Amino acid sequence: MIGRLNHVAIAVPDLQAAAATYRDMLGARVSEPKPMPEHGVTVVLVELPNTRIELLHPLGTQSPIASFLAKNPAGGMHHICYEVDDILETRDRLVASGARVLGGNEPKIGAHGKPVMFLHPKDFCGTLIEIEQA
Ligand code: CO
Repeated sequence: MIGRLNHVAIAVPDLQAAAATYRDMLGARVSEPKPMPEHGVTVVLVELPNTRIELLHPLGTQSPIASFLAKNPAGGMHHICYEVDDILETRDRLVASGARVLGGNEPKIGAHGKPVMFLHPKDFCGTLIEIEQA
């Protein structure tokens, strides 16, 4: 049912330092910081040959990653995103299997302009899962 790994999101307390780590130590191609006020984050995209990493830093007072960083001050992996062909069909199958969708049962438009949903980490091996209709 799930397809490609779209991205891995890492919450970071210092976006410039995180971007420098990926650019200078790991030799990856990193974007300029991109503010996304409607999602409460500033993002640096790290392009890898087979997927990408999103370095997320809180933006504004309602950031969805602020509490994560409060619990994990050094930063850490926040979620992974899998692509699906049909997000509503995927949701229905997952909910029928007992999985919990976070933030209501309807998809929202995600950071890439595509419909996304988040799934409860307790139902998926302790990992917050984002599904995106690619
Ligand atoms: Co994401």
